[in-house]
Amino acid sequence: MAVIIDGKKISQQIKDELKERVEALQAEGKSGALAVVQVGSDPASGVYVRNKKNACAYIGIESLAYELKEETTQQELLSLIEKLNQDDHVKGILVQLPLPAHIDENAVIRAIAPQKDVDGFHPQSVGLMTIGQDGFLPCTPAGIIQLLKRTGIEIAGKHCVIIGRSNIVGKPMALLMLREHATVTITHSRTKNLQEICRQADILIAALGKPRFVGAEYIKEGAVVIDVGIHRNEENKLCGDVDFENVEPLTSAITPVPGGVGPMTIAMLMQNCVESIAKEGAV
Ligand code: GUN
Repeated sequence: MAVIIDGKKISQQIKDELKERVEALQAEGKSGALAVVQVGSDPASGVYVRNKKNACAYIGIESLAYELKEETTQQELLSLIEKLNQDDHVKGILVQLPLPAHIDENAVIRAIAPQKDVDGFHPQSVGLMTIGQDGFLPCTPAGIIQLLKRTGIEIAGKHCVIIGRSNIVGKPMALLMLREHATVTITHSRTKNLQEICRQADILIAALGKPRFVGAEYIKEGAVVIDVGIHRNEENKLCGDVDFENVEPLTSAITPVPGGVGPMTIAMLMQNCVESIAKEGAV
């Protein structure tokens, strides 16, 4: 029987640990806010932003919501970021992605002060992670590492195959698995023999963004499967990149959707915010 990795439970444990840490920091006079910036009214982004604000309230840190209209110009957004960079009370800045097409996402990410980059997307954060130095780690890959560790799954020496090469998940995931001493293969839409490569994985991480793409034929018996995807199927039910029903019986452990990776992303965002408050903004 596969272990169903309970991301809801593990993320709750992390948030409870952080809540205690926030209380201790407050006793030392350390506090601060997370600024959450949303441009436009994409419904999925709205849900994520609400969840982030709720998590802040739960662990006891202040969140400042900036809901900007779709027509906001890049300059207006950059001016807001500059104002937040200068505000000592703001310890973390999160700009919800995707941004409207007329705004250059990379320019916005680069404008965030690296010491407030709690998403871990700034080139400085990415660089520090790449060379194994301290900096903010991107939340979804860092959450997956925590899921594996807290479930007691060994990573060192394992062959980890990642499907997807995005800047937010695939690429940083590879670096973090490498840091944990896995042997890492990154695959993507141009990879030849994808099934064959996936069948060599001890740990398979699906982050390609296609509903139920990964079927039983991609799985080695006893593999650990982590599903980063989140989609709505024909019946409006949530599903991942993995065909859970057919894959689960072959695995030793697997994350469900919902309740697997998703809640961990927010828990790790909270962790980055708490670290930023603890450091009083200094990297
Ligand atoms: N959109 C999808 N995932 C994320 C994330 O982790 N951070 C931000 N800022 N936007 C996202």
